[in-house]
Amino acid sequence: MTTEQPVQLESLGEGIVLLTLSRPKALNALDMGLLTALDQAITEISAQEDTRAILMTGAGDKAFVAGADIRAMSQMSAVEAEAFARKGQQVFRRLEDLPIPVIALVNGFALGGGCELALSCDFILAAENAVFGQPEVCLGVTAGFGGSQRLPRQIGPGMAMELLLTGRNVKAEEAKQIGLANHIYPQDQLRDEGIKLAQKIVACGPNAVRLTKQLVMRGMSLDLENACVLESQGFGLCFSTDEQTEGMQAFLEKRPAKFN
Ligand code: HXC
Repeated sequence: MTTEQPVQLESLGEGIVLLTLSRPKALNALDMGLLTALDQAITEISAQEDTRAILMTGAGDKAFVAGADIRAMSQMSAVEAEAFARKGQQVFRRLEDLPIPVIALVNGFALGGGCELALSCDFILAAENAVFGQPEVCLGVTAGFGGSQRLPRQIGPGMAMELLLTGRNVKAEEAKQIGLANHIYPQDQLRDEGIKLAQKIVACGPNAVRLTKQLVMRGMSLDLENACVLESQGFGLCFSTDEQTEGMQAFLEKRPAKFN
């Protein structure tokens, strides 16, 4: 692992990669430099055929990402602010579009852009000290990296409205209750629990995992009828793979499946 880099990629074996965002002087707040480094890391991961799951976290024990960089934003013109929002949206969209699962390990503050980044991952595991929130209105601005759109899709419009309109913080327990975080772990166990979950994913058929992610992502922007058609097409496609033959044969032979 290279230290001092704003985004560090570390192979944890079995096709699992740990992506760490690191800007210690500002609790990993996202400025243009960190966004660009994240963009480059996504490009690097996209070129690695053997990467099968990503765990994303923040450096240190206090923050996942404490938001977009307020100091940098305070100097922006309206045009620059819009371009900054667009850049973040594009990078987060690329993350969401990766064909492999991305799990957010939220190890502290995930506020504003940090909450929006976690929402762009496929699901969230929270440490006991995790704090989520969209405090933008308290700074006199709206969300800008997709939070006004992804939060209501994730937790429903009523609760999302409350959080977006008040800017109030939500601790780990409530985050789990409202469907923002899937599970909560003691901070020193978060990474290992993330690895265990990622190992379960990589033990499954890689093609089926990729297709499943695509079905969920694409299907959510379609009506139910068309989304189900997409699902049946995906299901049919699996039957042209060795993976389906092996998966079903292994069940019938009462042995674990071995996927390549
Ligand atoms: C810039 C930040 C920062 C941020 C923390 N820091 N968050 N710098 N942008 N978002 C810096 C602090 O200025 C401080 O630097 C250092 O990190 C440590 O933070 P402290 O405030 O001293 O720590 P603490 O008292 O523990 O408070 C932690 C905190 C607080 C509750 C997370 O830092 C905080 O409220 N941060 C802002 C959170 C926020 O509002 N995020 C949303 C931003 S808007 P110094 O040099 O003073 O020691 C957003 C919009 C997204 O994200 C869309 C954009 C298009």
